[in-house]
Order: sequence, then structure tokens, then C-alpha cells
Amino acid sequence: MKPSFLPLHTERLILRVHRTDDADALRIVYCRPEVARFLLDEPWTPQDAIVKTAERVPKTDLDGETGALALVIEHAGRLVGDVQLWFTDREHRVCEIGWVLDPDFGGQGLATEAVAAVLDLAFEHFRVHRVTAQMDGRNTASAKLARNLGMEHEAHLRQDWWSKGEWTDTLIYGILAGDRRHRTTGLPQD
Ligand SMILES: CC(C)(COP(=O)(O)OP(=O)(O)OC[C@H]1O[C@@H](n2cnc3c(N)ncnc32)[C@H](O)[C@@H]1OP(=O)(O)O)[C@@H](O)C(=O)NCCC(=O)NCCS
Repeated sequence: MKPSFLPLHTERLILRVHRTDDADALRIVYCRPEVARFLLDEPWTPQDAIVKTAERVPKTDLDGETGALALVIEHAGRLVGDVQLWFTDREHRVCEIGWVLDPDFGGQGLATEAVAAVLDLAFEHFRVHRVTAQMDGRNTASAKLARNLGMEHEAHLRQDWWSKGEWTDTLIYGILAGDRRHRTTGLPQD
């Protein structure tokens, strides 16, 4: 059953759950070396696309069985990326978030608009306590997006991850429900 809070509509985007037939449109984004560069994945093959899309299809509700929400981003009727949100500590409502945008649609604020809508859903609908984003230390576009959304740069882990034949640094960004209340109401943080 489709959750009542979906799809999300923003000014320029629709965010909806994944369907099995999204595999090819996702492959077109994830097969690009510049997209895969800072991800854990290698550029997707057609088989990767089928397997990974099938893994995402059941992720329709943070409070559902999977503890995860995987949404594709549609812009002008085209799949242009995705945003995923999942519990890392369900009992205490702590989540991680991840995002990918087709570079052909970059530089227009579409990723920012999509992730902002998912953060709103996380804090306002799901009453999440904290959301983190982790990224390769060289991923300046992703770090900028996190900062623009009000996420705090909390950590820089040096050479903590062996990725694609080399040691890489990890940046951790985080935002708390209390940060947002503080920003909107001026009340002290939790
Ligand atoms: C990370 C990623 C999503 C960022 O994409 P992006 O295009 O930079 O992000 P946005 O769509 O939000 O666009 C932001 C840019 O649009 C500009 N912009 C234009 N109109 C805007 C608007 N209305 N609102 C916000 N920004 C706007 C911003 O100034 C910014 O440009 P700048 O970086 O030159 O200053 C993208 O690089 C990506 O998918 N990378 C590959 C996958 C990846 O690494 N994912 C993250 C793993 S942790």
C-alpha cells in the first residue's frame, strides 16, 4: 500500500517510491564514472541496476518493515536522481541520508530542493531526532549541498575507508531536530 505522505511535491520536483521499471533510468545515472566516483558502488551494469532497484522497491516507509525510504526524483517527467533515508538507530530515531543527481541536471538546485523535502519529512512527519550524511572527503559538491541545508560539519575522518584501491577520508555532516526548532523559533537547542 502506498504511504499517505507520498509522493512528495516540491516547486520543481516529484519524489516517489521506486518501481521495478526504474532500473534502466537509474542505470543511466549510476553508470556514469563521475557519479560513481565518490560512491561505494562501481559504475552500474544493467545487472547491477536490476538488483539494486529491486532492493529499493520495498523501501517505502521509514517506520515500515525495512526502516528505510528510497525515493526517486522526477523533474519534468524524467527520473533525475534519488534520495534515500534509513534508520541507523531505530529505537532512538537516528537516520542517515544519501543523495544522487544526474549531472545533466546539476547546478540548478534540484538536489538541494529534493533533499530539503526529505529532511522536512524526516523531522516533521517521522519525528526523527538526528540525520547524518557521510561522504568522501573529496566530494565538495556533496559537502556544499549538506552545508546549504543547514547540516553541521561534525567530523573529518582521515583515511578511514579503503575505496577503489586507495585510502579515502570521510566527512560527516549532521542535523538535529533541535537545530531546526532553534532556527525557526529562536528557542534554545535541546
Ligand atoms: C552531490 C550532488 C547531488 C550535488 O549536485 P548539485 O548539482 O551540485 O546540487 P544542486 O542540484 O542542489 O545544485 C546546487 C547548485 O545549483 C545552484 N543553484 C541554482 N539555483 C538554485 C536554487 N534555486 N536553489 C539552490 N541552489 C541553486 C547553486 O548555487 C549550486 O551551484 P554551485 O555549486 O555552482 O554554487 C551531485 O554532485 C551528485 O549527484 N554527485 C554524484 C553522486 C554523489 O557523490 N552523491 C553523494 C554521495 S555522499
